[in-house]
Amino acid sequence: MSELPPEARLWNLIRGASGTKAFGIAADLGVADALAAGPRSVAELADESGADPDTLQRILRALASDGVFAEEKPGVFRNTEASELLRSDDTGSWREFAHLFGEVCYPAVGALDARSTEVPFIRACGTDFWSWLAARPEERSNFDKAMEGGRSERADRLAALEWRADETVVDIGGGTGALLRDLLERRPELRGVVFDLPEADRTEAAVGDRLTFVSGSFFERLPEGDAYVLSRILHDWDDEPAAAILRVVRAAAPGEARLLVLDSVVPPGNEPSGAKWLDILMLVLQRGRERTESQWRALLGSAGFGVDEIEDGLIQATCR
Ligand SMILES: C[S@@+](CC[C@H](N)C(=O)[O-])C[C@H]1O[C@@H](n2cnc3c(N)ncnc32)[C@H](O)[C@@H]1O
Repeated sequence: MSELPPEARLWNLIRGASGTKAFGIAADLGVADALAAGPRSVAELADESGADPDTLQRILRALASDGVFAEEKPGVFRNTEASELLRSDDTGSWREFAHLFGEVCYPAVGALDARSTEVPFIRACGTDFWSWLAARPEERSNFDKAMEGGRSERADRLAALEWRADETVVDIGGGTGALLRDLLERRPELRGVVFDLPEADRTEAAVGDRLTFVSGSFFERLPEGDAYVLSRILHDWDDEPAAAILRVVRAAAPGEARLLVLDSVVPPGNEPSGAKWLDILMLVLQRGRERTESQWRALLGSAGFGVDEIEDGLIQATCR
């Protein structure tokens, strides 16, 4: 761990809520797009976006103190390498993530209560996360775009595995299908089925008839396939519902099918890890959880799967 003074450690945690909110606001106002052609005054940015100039100035100054935007001269801001990632033409989905955290997750995090086992998101928003998204197509679409971020690395990781010709890969909870499309582009011998709720935003990305979409609930039934991808699905759920999903996979899967779980493996002890913070968000949204290696082995074993290989980000398992 770096040698930060203890007071600085505390301050970095305490200011977290302001950072999440400020970042979400700057993303929603489209500041990075407005600065795409070069530095501009806060007065102009505020005028164009309908923001209060004083509020915007202070938000941008705070963000700039962390390297997101830079105040070139008093009241004039420019993009930095980090704020460029918030541009709408960037493929990394940071703008959508910033909105998701700043506007959707933020009130739910505020409802986290260590003395309650209620789901904080439901306390804050009155309904479960997926129903809330289903009732708000724009938020659903933003969520799906946010989830597309970082898929290239995940597609690379899947593509590097050994595949037989003509295998059918079912991406369970596959959202827009972008991950599977990227895998199929890297592995032209494969076919893919994207399975998700009907309200998921579908990318009608052309990979011919090799990619199909099936709607339904993974708590009920799943299509037959040779390999099942669960990318950032099981961490959404506590052990009981996660095992229920796995049992549905087990029922659909032929005996030799492979299970490919793309999720974090929480490192032991005090080792810094994004997963230890993402775990809090999973707890907030629906009492999901990030898992350690032994928790993964226990969960998969309880549903009839044996772990063949486990590393952070990819767990390979087969039916036992
Ligand atoms: C955290 S997102 C992950 C999306 C994608 N797999 C990825 O890695 O980016 C979880 C996905 O599970 C889907 N989902 C939630 N409940 C579902 C259900 N009962 N049946 C099928 N899909 C579901 C959501 O619609 C969403 O697309």
